[in-house]
Amino acid sequence: MSIQRTFVMIKPDGVRRNLIGEIISRFEKRGLKIIGLKMVKIDRPTAERLYEEHKGKSFFEELISYITSGPVVCMVIEGDEAVSVVRKMIGNTDPKEAPPGTIRGDYALSKAENVIHASDSEEKAKREMSIFFKEEELVTPLAQVHM
Ligand code: TYD
Ligand code: MG
Repeated sequence: MSIQRTFVMIKPDGVRRNLIGEIISRFEKRGLKIIGLKMVKIDRPTAERLYEEHKGKSFFEELISYITSGPVVCMVIEGDEAVSVVRKMIGNTDPKEAPPGTIRGDYALSKAENVIHASDSEEKAKREMSIFFKEEELVTPLAQVHM
């Protein structure tokens, strides 16, 4: 077992299309634990920080205005190899390439508006979750026992 934490965010189109419950349910049924959860409207500086690696790319401006266009649901998910398991569950960036059964394969309407974000490495997971969560906002294993 290699327990990892990853950062997941239901993007504005996912929230607008009432997919919050459906998406969270998939992770829970897969045995992954939601250890942090909040709905926020991202401001421009935070969006630029989250997507720092894409600064200067052709789609950057479109990405920032989309991600700040409405509320998002941020989560920290914990489980065995959570980073790669969650990436597999969300599917390819472009829904045309995302297999049916993945979240993007089932729900995403375009590459730009693709319902969900998940960290692609443990290092990025740490960086991304620290943008949205303080350590004390995350549920510890001991707290879960008493839930
Ligand atoms: P990226 O990190 O490459 O994809 P992923 O979300 O699968 O990790 O890109 C971040 C987001 O930027 C992506 O989810 C949607 C947007 N994007 C575009 O709009 N057009 C593109 O060509 C790419 C690569 C990404
Ligand atoms: Mg990415």
